[in-house]
Amino acid sequence: MVYDLIVIGGGPAGYHGANLAGKNGLKVLLIEKTALGGVCLNTGCIPSKTWLHAAKIYAEAKNGAAYGVRTEGISLDQERVTARKNKVVKILAAGIRNQLQKNNVQVVAAQGDIIGRDETGFMVKAGEDYYSGKNLLIATGSVPIIPPIPGLETALREGMVLTNEEIFNLSRVPASLVVIGGGVIGLEMAAYFNAAGSKVTVIELRDRIGGEIDPEIAAVLLGNYRKKGVDFRLNARVTAVERKRVKFIAGDGEEEVEAEQVLLSVGRRPFLSGFGLENLNPVLEKGRLLVDRSGRTSVPGLYAAGDVNGRSMLAHTAYREAEVCVGRILGRTEEVNYEAIPAVIYTSPEVASVGESAESAARKGLAVETVTISMRYSGRYLAEHEGGDGLCKLVFTRPEQRLIGVHLISEYASELIYGAGMMIDRKMQAEEIKKVVFPHPTIGEIIKEAVWSLPG
Ligand code: NAI
Repeated sequence: MVYDLIVIGGGPAGYHGANLAGKNGLKVLLIEKTALGGVCLNTGCIPSKTWLHAAKIYAEAKNGAAYGVRTEGISLDQERVTARKNKVVKILAAGIRNQLQKNNVQVVAAQGDIIGRDETGFMVKAGEDYYSGKNLLIATGSVPIIPPIPGLETALREGMVLTNEEIFNLSRVPASLVVIGGGVIGLEMAAYFNAAGSKVTVIELRDRIGGEIDPEIAAVLLGNYRKKGVDFRLNARVTAVERKRVKFIAGDGEEEVEAEQVLLSVGRRPFLSGFGLENLNPVLEKGRLLVDRSGRTSVPGLYAAGDVNGRSMLAHTAYREAEVCVGRILGRTEEVNYEAIPAVIYTSPEVASVGESAESAARKGLAVETVTISMRYSGRYLAEHEGGDGLCKLVFTRPEQRLIGVHLISEYASELIYGAGMMIDRKMQAEEIKKVVFPHPTIGEIIKEAVWSLPG
């Protein structure tokens, strides 16, 4: 049988693409070598959210007195937190399996190897069997970057250094945790282990945390976590990982910090090798599988969605990319709007942003005006955040006042940001946003408040 679509990789891009194609009547084969759900479900988004929710409950309970609530004798049981994480993952994995079945997707649990391409289509070997498909979707994801730091490989092998692939199996909170890389994974895990009671040190190469998030918002987040006891070493370069310690240079001399465990989170790279992709010879660029905004590679019929194309490396981007790939296969002309993809860091407070920052707009030579207001303008924020210092920053084009960027630091920011993304996607101007009715009292009202605070 010749499949209409063969998908390699069962993460968000792979299972979503397979489901959509199956739902639309295509004959679909999905090949996954480990667990359905990919990094997101098994060692990423979902495990971290279950852990972080436990940390949030724990931290709020400890801070109950600030809200007039007396709490005594509370503690965090890491073994149970991890057991609950496993339960949540199991439920969602079953959901993915059911959906695939419902959409008539054939699933093969094996390593897929691309053999080549002939007049009938793409030939893929999985297990002992050979399969042929008219279209092929590569959704093989990404793997952690392992920098050449002396001692790192050994420490990884011995289990002192962990990546996101291993950390969620910890059933004990380490006394000390050194996080190498103050990006998204590093910050979320620093937040968790700080709340859970570890002494956390974050070593970051750059002078800021959180990658490209708005610098003012990054500074507020940094201040929040320094206040909670996380030690941040910025402009710092790790020179060696040794038994129970990490050495680094920050400023003049070499320093060292004690580390029962180390989390390595210095970024991820597309997973492109070991499954025969070279047999199709698609164009690669800077270690990623090059695609256009419709997920098409340089090889007709070969698509790539998710981390493997290196464009955004977020699960929600992967979903959208899978949608446009399948749309193309079904004959529709669709593209991903990469200008309106939200990004979230699930710390407490959360950071969420979408679109341009003042910095990125300046790099593009766009004339903009920005408005920044304190989250304390929101009644609900004030009621729920004793001592909170959250911010809302909007970026508009000048003179049209079209919204092109929204940056938030506040609880619930992750739940608000899609609305902001929609405003940007729909190219809404300040005058139109003013007419939107926001429920009161909500944290989301801050967007309306910020728009009304624009001059004019
Ligand atoms: P990242 O790219 O977010 O951050 C890596 C950080 O490490 C950067 O700040 C970088 O300057 C720093 N760095 C690089 N080399 C270093 C070195 N040798 N020493 C010290 N610092 C160094 O990558 P991260 O956190 O590993 O996350 C990987 C991917 O997973 C990201 O692409 C992210 O989009 C995704 N992810 C998304 C989440 C979310 O949406 N909430 C949560 C977790 C991960």
